[in-house]
Amino acid sequence: MRIPGFYKLPFEARQDELQSRHDLTEADTNTLNAGGLSLQDADRLVENAVGLYNMPLGIGLNFIINGREFAVPMAVEEPSVIAAASNAARMVREGGGFMAESDESVMTAQVEILEVPDLGLARERIEAARNAIFIAADEIVPRLKARGGGIRDLEVRIPRPSNGKSTDRRLVVHLYIDCRDAMGANLVNTVAEGIAAQLASIAGGRAGLRILSNLTDRRCVRVRARIPAKVLGSEDIDGVEAAREIASASRFAEDDPYRAATHNKGIMNGVDAVVLATGNDWRGVEAGAHAYAARTGVYRPLCTWKFVENDGAWLEGYLEMPMAVGIVGGTLSHHGGARLSLKLLGAQNAGELGMVVAATGMASNLAALRVLATEGIQRGHMRCHRRATGIPAAPEKAPG
Ligand code: MEV
Repeated sequence: MRIPGFYKLPFEARQDELQSRHDLTEADTNTLNAGGLSLQDADRLVENAVGLYNMPLGIGLNFIINGREFAVPMAVEEPSVIAAASNAARMVREGGGFMAESDESVMTAQVEILEVPDLGLARERIEAARNAIFIAADEIVPRLKARGGGIRDLEVRIPRPSNGKSTDRRLVVHLYIDCRDAMGANLVNTVAEGIAAQLASIAGGRAGLRILSNLTDRRCVRVRARIPAKVLGSEDIDGVEAAREIASASRFAEDDPYRAATHNKGIMNGVDAVVLATGNDWRGVEAGAHAYAARTGVYRPLCTWKFVENDGAWLEGYLEMPMAVGIVGGTLSHHGGARLSLKLLGAQNAGELGMVVAATGMASNLAALRVLATEGIQRGHMRCHRRATGIPAAPEKAPG
């Protein structure tokens, strides 16, 4: 969503602007001002609660995703993240906005079976019992089935022992469960625990761990952006040169895991801010992102950029990452601030939320690479930091 000059408005005027555009009620404004969570709800959410720990909530502007405008709620304490993402989204807008797609909300339940006498035979027997297992799994979560979700697939894995000579005789059954609009951790864990004895009996072993995998590679989101190079320029650098430098910075991350880690941290600046604002499990999203980045055995960037000359000069970006986020259940039942964020965002389903999260990550990455490849991080970052701390700008050069 575009709201020109939003950042220049005083705090209350920004809230008024939001109120008029999003039909916020007085209760919503109170929720904003109270940090989104009451002491009573905090006490219900965690054990040994003694208070609240607040974060700033801001709005990422200028986002168009699949032709739709979004005001993106971002909870983050780092200065410049929201401004940078909004600025990059404005550039992406010049190329028509982000194009995104999301897999179905398929989570992975892992059921470990140990002391399996014959791993190959156990695999065959579990695969042969596939239909019966599907029926049993769906019966464990009937309300999910009624909502159109449920088990979609099954896979038997025999992980290679890391030391080459394990005596565990371990077999792992993956159940792929469509959790619809929920993140789904509780659903998946319920199924894993409910079905484990049956799987162990078929395999002739004993049930071990029963838990979701955070490497949710059947629940990925993909985002593309195509930006006219000319909009990437600044007073210091021409747009085409900036596009070439950003593509070069992307190749650096592809070639060097040390750089890829920082590159991906820049993506997670945007990703985590939206995941946190919408009451989702950012540790789960982080774990999935980094495991996915390392899935080939080498840690790689989640988002890459290319300079392309084809009917003009363009910078083209592609991001792909797992995205286990929901718009129902979990923290949302107790966190008014998270519910309000979802209201501001207006995501229709979990997949759409995932696309917004990933597009915000891509915007953060673009902003970081552009500033790194041109003026350097400190000038812009320190500008925002000075604003945050109230410290006046140091003179560019020492006087005299
Ligand atoms: C800082 O929070 C994030 C960056 O280090 C990301 C990057 O280097 O790409 C600027």
